[in-house]
Amino acid sequence: MYLKSKISLKHFNYLEKELLNRFNSYSMKLGGKKIKRLEDIHNLKNIYLNLENYKKIFFELFTERKTKEAYVKFAKLLIKKNFNGNGYFQKTPTIRIHLKGLGLTGYHCDYWYGHGENAITIWKPLTNTKNTCSLYVQNNKIDNKKLLTSFRKKKIDVAQINQILKHLCKKTDVKRNEYLQFNSKVIHGTQKNKENVSRISFDFRIIGINQNFGSKPKENFIQVLENKITKIKSHNKIFKCSTYTNGVSKIAVRNQIIFINSMCMNNNFQVILNDSEIYQLDYLPVLRGMIKNKNLDLIVVYSLKIFKNKNIKNQILKLLKKMNKKIYFCYENLYSDELNNI
Ligand SMILES: [Fe+2]
Repeated sequence: MYLKSKISLKHFNYLEKELLNRFNSYSMKLGGKKIKRLEDIHNLKNIYLNLENYKKIFFELFTERKTKEAYVKFAKLLIKKNFNGNGYFQKTPTIRIHLKGLGLTGYHCDYWYGHGENAITIWKPLTNTKNTCSLYVQNNKIDNKKLLTSFRKKKIDVAQINQILKHLCKKTDVKRNEYLQFNSKVIHGTQKNKENVSRISFDFRIIGINQNFGSKPKENFIQVLENKITKIKSHNKIFKCSTYTNGVSKIAVRNQIIFINSMCMNNNFQVILNDSEIYQLDYLPVLRGMIKNKNLDLIVVYSLKIFKNKNIKNQILKLLKKMNKKIYFCYENLYSDELNNI
C-alpha cells in the first residue's frame, strides 16, 4: 500500500531549473537543440545512445551544496513525519530517467534487494507522471514470502515473475508537487512508456532509529536524531590507508584495484599509498611492511584470500594487534579486528 503526499513546488525548484539548463547545455554541445520542459528530455541530442552521460549530469547536481541542502531538508521532513525525527536516510538517492518509448525497472519489492523490512521507499518525480510513465504500485497487502516461495518452487525466470507481478500493480500518476511513500515489501515497477513525455525522478529509503538496514551498509545512511543530522561514528575519522593487491585471489590485479578504490571512496578512506605483494614470498613481506608504516591507519585489501594458511593469518593478526593497525577486507566487508579465530 502506498501513500501519496504533497510537497511545495518551491522545494525542488532549483534542482528542476538547473537540471534543465545543464541538460540543454550538454545537448547543444553535441550539436542538438534545447528543450523547454524536463518531460521533453527524449528530444535532447543522443540521449537514447548516451543516457549514462545525462544521468551523470543529474547525479553530479546531487553532489552540489544547494541540491544537497534541498534533499536533506526533504529527508528530515520525512523522518519527522514517519519516525518522530529519529531515523536514517540514504546518503545518495537513486536517479531515474524513464524515456518515452522505453521500459525501466521490472516489478519487484525493495526488500527482495536487501533493504530492511521496515524501510520506507520515497519516490519523488521532477516531472508530472501519468499512465505508463508513472510508477506502478500494488495497493493491497500481499504476502511477499508466499510469492517468493512460489517463484522458488516453480523456478520461473525474471520475465515470468514480471508478468505475474505487473497484474498486481496500478498506475500512480504522481504530480511534480507530490511524492509517494511505501514500505520495502510493496511491489512496484514500470511499464514501457507509451506517453508523449518522459519521466525524471529520484528515490531513496528512510528507516527508523532501531530498525535494521537489511543487507545495506550503515555507512550509506545519514542519521537524524531529534530532527538534527548527526554523523555516524565511523564517518568521523578519515583513515589514511594503503591499498594492497595480492595475486592469491584469482581476480586480476587491475580489477582488484578498481574494487578496492571504489570501497575506499565509499568508506571515506584516504589512499596515500599502494603496493602489490611479492607473489613468491607467501609470508607477505609487503603487507608486513605496510602494517609497520607509521603513516598508515589502515590497509585495504581485496579479500581474506590473501592468507594462504591459518598460520600466516595468525601471524599477521598478531602483528596488527602489536602495531595497533587494521586491515579492511573489501569483498567480505570486514575489518581484521572482527575476525574471531586469532
Ligand atoms: Fe524499487
